[in-house]
Amino acid sequence: MGKYIIEGGRGLYGSLTIKGAKNSVLTLLAASILTPEKVVLHGCPDIGDVAVMLRILRKLGCKVERTGDIVEIDSSGLHSYKIACDPAKELRSSVFMLGSLLSRLKRAKAVYPGGCDIGLRPIDIHLAGLRELGVTVGERHGHIDCDGTNAEPADIMLDLPSVGATENLMMACVFLNGVSILRNCAKEPEIVDLQNFLNAMGAKVRGAGGSVITVEGVKRLHGVEYTPIPDRIVAGTWAIGAVMCGGKLTLENVIPEHLSSLLAKLPKSSCKIYPRDGKITIESKGRPRAVPKTETMYYPGFPTDLQAQMTALQSVSDGTAVIVENIFETRFRSAVELCKMGANITVSGNTAVVRGVPELYGSRVVATDLRGGASLVLAAAAASGRSEIDEIHHIDRGYEDLAAILPQVGVDIKRE
Ligand code: EPZ
Repeated sequence: MGKYIIEGGRGLYGSLTIKGAKNSVLTLLAASILTPEKVVLHGCPDIGDVAVMLRILRKLGCKVERTGDIVEIDSSGLHSYKIACDPAKELRSSVFMLGSLLSRLKRAKAVYPGGCDIGLRPIDIHLAGLRELGVTVGERHGHIDCDGTNAEPADIMLDLPSVGATENLMMACVFLNGVSILRNCAKEPEIVDLQNFLNAMGAKVRGAGGSVITVEGVKRLHGVEYTPIPDRIVAGTWAIGAVMCGGKLTLENVIPEHLSSLLAKLPKSSCKIYPRDGKITIESKGRPRAVPKTETMYYPGFPTDLQAQMTALQSVSDGTAVIVENIFETRFRSAVELCKMGANITVSGNTAVVRGVPELYGSRVVATDLRGGASLVLAAAAASGRSEIDEIHHIDRGYEDLAAILPQVGVDIKRE
């Protein structure tokens, strides 16, 4: 499974270019089967989750080609509505295929999805929404079997603003005969990206980014060439790294507005931030001061996907910080690993109290999930001495090979 070896203690200097957002690309890949015509996606990161999604599409009968960061999907040969078990078990976004398969083939069959072990991660809101549309949904032996033959538009209230459920239902409504209304929707930028993608294919979707989305059914969708939004979570990860490690780091190809809740949290006392068209520069001004409280919230609140990285930053900040994880049940697993590096973190339920220490020391630690693993890379880069991070396949799911990328900004990192 491989490990990273990192000699820490050096600042981050130079620039990194951010690729397309994992959590947009995965959804757009699911949406690509809504047309039998060719779909071309630019800026696709070479990461594990995208590779799994491409495998799922191939097993459904799609022709998929990757040339560098460009992925081409031709689903004219789509011959199955049964999402392959093995890859689906690895990936949460396999469940997003339910909506697009139902729209294309009126049928869809999947296993309960996999993904990071950060909580229960039910799909009840997805399935309740599909049932509201008149889809019959059978759940037996861990399989979900959907029949959308009699699906009709509906006015649906989501129990909570679930990103995946919002996206799944947007895709399930595109060909229904009339207008569907989705209420209490997630407002993440990736939802807006999906709306823009669908409309570029000829759909009539309105309201993404707000809590009410309307989908007016159309007869068909046509092919498209599209560039997904940049990955705000990868950008946020390296912005936090620049404050933790010191240095001056420029991030190219970012949308600063997508990071506003993080930028508001990075302590003005210890870093200067220069957001300008399409890029952000973060210049460290010394040891960061602790941020008294950070609560993860639905967008535009502080993103849960940056919570582990923020916890790592607070572990070396001056003072005490409280971090509350409101979205997922068990997303503090990497705190245990940070403590092996000298961090002083007490976790109780969904709250972590972090008493900052002047410096972490290198240790052997284990990545437990995608963002937790990324937080260990930041901690190891900031720590004094050598660290080894095992189980880095978790990190590979959402970050391109860091042993190729981070040396560009001065990090001493090798992959074994
Ligand atoms: C998406 O997951 C992202 N994944 C996650 O990113 C991200 O953390 C999450 O949104 C929240 O922003 C992708 O887009 C592939 P949710 P998703 O449905 O859609 C509960 C990463 O690191 N819920 O918004 O699965 C759920 O348990 C990953 O890149 C239900 O109760 O998240 C959670 O508590 C991790 N029933 C909350 O809603 C449902 O049917 C938010 O989940 C669905 C969700």
